[in-house]
Amino acid sequence: MASTTDDFEVPWVEKYRPNKLDDVVGNEQTLDRLKVIAEEGNMPNVIICGPPGTGKTTSVHALAHTMLGDAYANAVLELNASDSRGIEVVRNTIKMFTQKKVTLPPGQHKVIILDEADSMTASAQQALRRTMEIYSHTTRFALACNVSTKIIEPIQSRCAILRFSRLSEEEILLRLQQVCEAEQVSYSPDGLEAIIFTAEGDMRNALNNLQATHSGFGHVDQANVFKVCDQPHPGVVLEILKSCVEGDCAKASRRMKALYDTGYSSNDIIGTVFRVCKNQLEVNEGAKLEMIKEVGFTHVRVADGVNSLLQLMGMCARLCRVAQQQSTTLPS
Ligand SMILES: Nc1ncnc2c1ncn2[C@@H]1O[C@H](COP(=O)(O)OP(=O)(O)OP(=O)(O)O)[C@@H](O)[C@H]1O
Ligand SMILES: [Mg+2]
Repeated sequence: MASTTDDFEVPWVEKYRPNKLDDVVGNEQTLDRLKVIAEEGNMPNVIICGPPGTGKTTSVHALAHTMLGDAYANAVLELNASDSRGIEVVRNTIKMFTQKKVTLPPGQHKVIILDEADSMTASAQQALRRTMEIYSHTTRFALACNVSTKIIEPIQSRCAILRFSRLSEEEILLRLQQVCEAEQVSYSPDGLEAIIFTAEGDMRNALNNLQATHSGFGHVDQANVFKVCDQPHPGVVLEILKSCVEGDCAKASRRMKALYDTGYSSNDIIGTVFRVCKNQLEVNEGAKLEMIKEVGFTHVRVADGVNSLLQLMGMCARLCRVAQQQSTTLPS
């Protein structure tokens, strides 16, 4: 982990960006493959794809650093979505780099990192096809993207595809605790829990919310985290769902209206309802499945644009009916 300074200006996501593959958490299988590649040095063309904030960019850079060491400055060309990457750049910048002479240890290759490759136009990707093949003895490509299907098939077929998935709660928790210790953040366990809940497996989001709560309030607890993240409070949502389980539709609707009136969009509310229903509500399995089904139907309507309070109220009513039909058990 990076050394600490008192500099509050540096975003923690950058300050604690791992430099080595060993420090990247989660996705063990993918990282194991990257580590083998880094050790052997003979890197194939790779596509690394996965959701935001899970360590793709970090891993590609760590891989190139480990493989190339001091030669990194000369032997790596990085282009991301902020650089123009049209067909001209493929024809000029990339081609010139592949032809550049760089002294490397035997068995090593120059590396071209194309970050956020899914934003490259199809014609630029087409132009890469032959370049990748012709210069494969000197240069290898590492592409990072969110969805591999946005990379044209011929490029996919030339690359090994490595997938990153969202990080687990434990992995994020461990990292947050390390950063809290390094930064001497005062926190309570429910604060970190709340950060993990809102981050949805995105480490960048988790670290940013941790820093925002710390610099805004000085103490990281549940209430402060939800003030910063401004998402519907899962505690409130849990109360609504419990009212439904008790079959008290009036109470559930009242609480839902109060939540809606605080200004959250139906989309945010329904997202939280789903996660709370799935993870926190304690009812028997059958009832839970039926409830999630109803939440799902409501989500479809909201996503279709019917995002009125009436839909949310209707969902509460249907959840009450599901609870009545199923013999549900709430813990005392
Ligand atoms: N697996 C991880 N282990 C440790 N830190 C991580 C991990 N994933 C993300 N981070 C933190 O989040 C920040 C952003 O990660 P990174 O840039 O690698 O995300 P990404 O996967 O490339 O996302 P995007 O798809 O948005 O480009 C890093 O600086 C690091 O602090
Ligand atoms: Mg990235």
